[in-house]
Amino acid sequence: MESQPATNKPELRPGKQRSRIEIGAALLTRTGELIHEILIGPHCAIISDANVAPLFGDRVKQILISSGFEPALITIPAGETSKTLEQVGAICDQMIAARLDRQSFVIGLGGGVVSDISGFVAAIYERGIPHVQIPTTLLGMVDSSIGGKTGVNTHDGKNLIGAFHHPSLVIDDVDLLKTLPRREFDQGFAEIIKHAIIADAEMFTTLRHVDLGNLAPLIRRNIEIKSGIVAKDELDQTGERALLNFGHTVGHAIERAGDYREFLHGEAISLGIVAACAISIKKAGLPNDQRDTVADLLNAFALPTRLPANFPRAKIFEALRLDKKFERGKIRFVVTPSIGSARLSSDVTMEDIREAIDQL
Ligand SMILES: NC(=O)c1ccc[n+]([C@@H]2O[C@H](COP(=O)([O-])OP(=O)(O)OC[C@H]3O[C@@H](n4cnc5c(N)ncnc54)[C@H](O)[C@@H]3O)[C@@H](O)[C@H]2O)c1
Ligand SMILES: [Zn+2]
Repeated sequence: MESQPATNKPELRPGKQRSRIEIGAALLTRTGELIHEILIGPHCAIISDANVAPLFGDRVKQILISSGFEPALITIPAGETSKTLEQVGAICDQMIAARLDRQSFVIGLGGGVVSDISGFVAAIYERGIPHVQIPTTLLGMVDSSIGGKTGVNTHDGKNLIGAFHHPSLVIDDVDLLKTLPRREFDQGFAEIIKHAIIADAEMFTTLRHVDLGNLAPLIRRNIEIKSGIVAKDELDQTGERALLNFGHTVGHAIERAGDYREFLHGEAISLGIVAACAISIKKAGLPNDQRDTVADLLNAFALPTRLPANFPRAKIFEALRLDKKFERGKIRFVVTPSIGSARLSSDVTMEDIREAIDQL
């Protein structure tokens, strides 16, 4: 079966590093051929998780074998709790056993968790070997596979250890999303709505009527938005890239306060977006009705906009204090003056954040 050529051509450049990005249907079968064009092998590792490996692991393995590669399928337990240094060590041991060398490469086959940990492994194995991403979640396609941030969590917080390592190739096969549970699918829209709020008012208005049967153009647009922002601030130093953290300061704290169990990443970010809009009303002049429109759109994708009554709110504030963004006590908070634009503000106080969380 042919892939959709119309959505396949352009090469996007997230920053100085070039990643070839293919988006369309029925792309998985072309994996071997696509990799052959840019990478050597023959040894490679397919890193996947316990949910995704049974669905697509063997297929990808067979496709690679028939293209002359010698893949080792390495499966980790599914979920955020796998994003640890211990797991990185275990994966590396298996890669050594499978005789991966400097000509080898790593394929991440899974959602954002697999994307982050496989990317980190690729960044440090033999001091860095190429990374191929095959995202299997919507969030993975529009967000975690783009921008080169890889890493793992520690006891004290998310993504505290990591490296910048851009993938050489990203294969976004929209057919892989068909097995994704609804809740996991919906959470991808939190990041998409975030992209719309910070950079694309037009996309924001079209999201209500998005064609779920033809997601490739939406995925492409989101990759363009994120790549465009990353390109201006590859190493997260000037503040431009920080705009992608819209909704994430409070969102990460909520995610952690819920012990990474109560909310999926995108769900916590949905709540964080609502809080960031409340703060934007106060500190950036966001019109009230735009906050309401944002909440409506989040709800349209079954994303939460209020905290459950019994949620341990005190734990959110505890988590906020551990946030990397509060270095030296200075808060840099992303606000939106109007849908389609965002900027960093340095006059958001902890009290403003507290007030916004109280309203959730
Ligand atoms: N590096 C970045 O720039 C970046 C950006 C955003 C998010 N992230 C990270 O991404 C992670 C969240 O990613 P996620 O939401 O994709 O989570 P995930 O990787 O845990 O995937 C969600 C769940 O869906 C399952 N799954 C994945 N694909 C499936 C499919 N096609 N069919 C059936 N089940 C499937 C997984 O096994 C898992 O249980 C977080 O760790 C976050 O920190 C990183
Ligand atoms: Zn996010």
